[in-house]
Amino acid sequence: MREHRVDVLIAEDRLLARVGELAAEISAAYQGQELLVVGVLKGAFVFCGDLLRRLQGVDAQVDFIAASSYGTATETSGTVRIVKDLDAAVAGRHVLLVEDIVDTGLTLNYLREHILHQQPASLRICALLDKPSRRRVQVPVDYVGFEIPDVFIVGYGIDWAERYRYLPYIGAVRFPDEG
Ligand code: IMP
Ligand code: MG
Repeated sequence: MREHRVDVLIAEDRLLARVGELAAEISAAYQGQELLVVGVLKGAFVFCGDLLRRLQGVDAQVDFIAASSYGTATETSGTVRIVKDLDAAVAGRHVLLVEDIVDTGLTLNYLREHILHQQPASLRICALLDKPSRRRVQVPVDYVGFEIPDVFIVGYGIDWAERYRYLPYIGAVRFPDEG
């Protein structure tokens, strides 16, 4: 693997404080209602779990969907494929799609269309990280944790070639040969 190091970009305490704020916003929006939280595997699994257990006064259920657009490289292939579809029926339900990173927007855009096609009562999107400078398709994101620059991220569920998902913070991968 290419020589690299991982720097802390968002420390654990800051990260969890923000997750708490998002959970409070989402709790207020869906107070006393039923909500289907849909986590996008694998990257959002940690975020989704932390968010879910901070919701208050929401009758939440959880499901997962898995999409693939990246191979092992750090650039998107441009095509999105559903690797694992929802188990739950979403028709007539309030759905919150929870994603780790919005980068080009291709993955979320595809998943959004896929879910809207099944006629949920409503659909909102929550993304922990947003890299607006990389956007290729516009997709409405209702809740964003942090806007970040165009750096390659790992940790808190997010991988680089399946590595580093276990880090409790958001790290930035740096390549010494790039200076
Ligand atoms: P998009 O389709 O280009 O928006 O890419 C979204 C997906 O690419 C995310 O769900 C991540 O899995 C992955 N991705 C985007 N940026 C990064 C990154 O910096 N590190 C690791 N995965 C990333
Ligand atoms: Mg992902």
